[in-house]
Amino acid sequence: MVSEQEIEKAAEILRRGGLVAFPTETVYGLGADASSPAAIRKIFAAKGRPADHPVIVHVAGTSDLKHWAADVPRSAWLLAERFWPGPLTMVFRRAARVSDLLTGGQDTVGLRVPSHPVAQQLLRTFGRGIAAPSANRFGRLSPTTAQHVREELKDAVDLVLDGGPCEVGIESTIVDFTRAEPAVLRPGRISAQQIADALLVELGESAAGRPRVSGSLESHYAPGLPLKIVSPDEIENYLRSRADTPVAVLSRRGRPRESKVTLWQVAPEMPVDYARMLYGTLRQLDVSGCRLIVVEALPELPEWTAIRDRLARAATPDPVALPPGAKR
Ligand code: TXA
Ligand code: MG
Repeated sequence: MVSEQEIEKAAEILRRGGLVAFPTETVYGLGADASSPAAIRKIFAAKGRPADHPVIVHVAGTSDLKHWAADVPRSAWLLAERFWPGPLTMVFRRAARVSDLLTGGQDTVGLRVPSHPVAQQLLRTFGRGIAAPSANRFGRLSPTTAQHVREELKDAVDLVLDGGPCEVGIESTIVDFTRAEPAVLRPGRISAQQIADALLVELGESAAGRPRVSGSLESHYAPGLPLKIVSPDEIENYLRSRADTPVAVLSRRGRPRESKVTLWQVAPEMPVDYARMLYGTLRQLDVSGCRLIVVEALPELPEWTAIRDRLARAATPDPVALPPGAKR
């Protein structure tokens, strides 16, 4: 997969202030030395990302927590023990040394211990924290293969470590420990219920797994084509109404015999499998020659929350009806 020499080379690039894309169990990250403001600036330039968006710092293990966080409440250690290394990010008050570039101007820092063996090897060889957002252009779908990263970032990245396709497929669960109660800012493979269970608390409003509207959370993880989410009851009518448009459908059901749509992609039945293939499939549908992606709505059940969240962000809002005579 990835040789020791390649890991050495990657660590050397990070030491020199360069950018290395690397696999994690969730999605690929675009990494830079988290202690170097000049290196972090390169991340923002490569992604075309606004400066007020905070960046997660990846560390090898919990012993590095105190280096970056000023205040780690006891409840956070429960989650660390239970879910790290793994697809969980925790937000804390930052230590004084943390660059403003990592915090988006706030006084908090997001920390994660990834479990992917290549990420772990890189963190251990480099020996310091690695700042890494997902390795996509700003507002686009997160990459889940090395090939996606190359397509997204081309020469803007010095090295791409190829660790194969990501196992989880959607970004980490984010839990904020800087509020009165821990709150789930972004749902992921680890559910709000699992967080509540580990914290020995009731699932309150704040942990409901509905991401808060936050200027710091990207509003869009979108393909290039318009994407519509349509309920199973309405999908046949909807597709008939778009009969003139080449449409790509993503559905967990087989293609109905009478269906005339251009492309019908059958998605996995189970949430874990659906999440794993989601971004890669949307990328394929994006270049299929169709003009519109229609995704069949998923059940309103906790195990689908994170995927429904990503699809909602990818969806194109309906045009707002303007009153007659109003100017655009
Ligand atoms: O799975 C993941 O989390 C991947 C892999 C590479 O680790 N990373 C990732 O990073 O998704 P990014 O930057 O694409 O998304 C991180 C999200 C952003 O919405 C950011 O606003 C939020 O985490 N975030 C980071 N630090 C934060 C902080 N201090 N306070 C609040 N939100 C924060
Ligand atoms: Mg991202």
